[in-house]
Amino acid sequence: MKFFLDTANLEQIKEANDIGIIDGVTTNPSLMAKEGISGHNNVLKHYVKICEMVEGDISAEVIATDFEGIVREGEELASLAPNIVVKVPMIRDGVKAINHFSNNGIRTNCTLVFSAGQALLAAKAGATYLSPFIGRIDDTGWNGLGLIEQIVEIYANYGIMTEILAASIRNPLHIVKCAELGADVVTCPLKAMMGLLNHPLTDKGLAQFLADAEGTRG
Ligand code: E4P
Repeated sequence: MKFFLDTANLEQIKEANDIGIIDGVTTNPSLMAKEGISGHNNVLKHYVKICEMVEGDISAEVIATDFEGIVREGEELASLAPNIVVKVPMIRDGVKAINHFSNNGIRTNCTLVFSAGQALLAAKAGATYLSPFIGRIDDTGWNGLGLIEQIVEIYANYGIMTEILAASIRNPLHIVKCAELGADVVTCPLKAMMGLLNHPLTDKGLAQFLADAEGTRG
């Protein structure tokens, strides 16, 4: 399972990249705003910086919601670097644009996916990645991981190549469960990713090893 970092924060991207645990980055307009990145040119420059830092796929989201606008923005984003994946919302014109991009060699990430029906449509249109938002589904009292399970089964039934990119991850358990269910990718905040490190028995065992090693020093 690939690990993408879900942020536009360059320091966090550098930290995760230096450890060697990320295969890509996803961003969205909210994450860009959180970093204070505004203005078309600044947004593009920020994407270029991320692409220069990380070898893997970088999802850059369009703002337009009409077909022509999505295509125009998507083509501009895709021209920034070979590892850009154009992130397109799951709306009618978005699906049409994904189909257009797919036919023209531009890779896509279909975002804001909350149902298996939407997952089928995105795959039919030729999306490279599909982003079901599991945390936001959980927030409403529904079962986000249940949706991942359903999409994994459906895609397996038909040998669909669209990669399931579990998004809106809230904690380390989400990551482990996605791996159990067979998601192709998880995208998560650094905190959730680093949470995978933690186990009290590791801390206890290390403290014991270090104490014992101290006693053997001559
Ligand atoms: C990533 O592609 C998504 O935009 C992101 O995971 C959404 O996460 P959130 O629900 O925490 O905003």
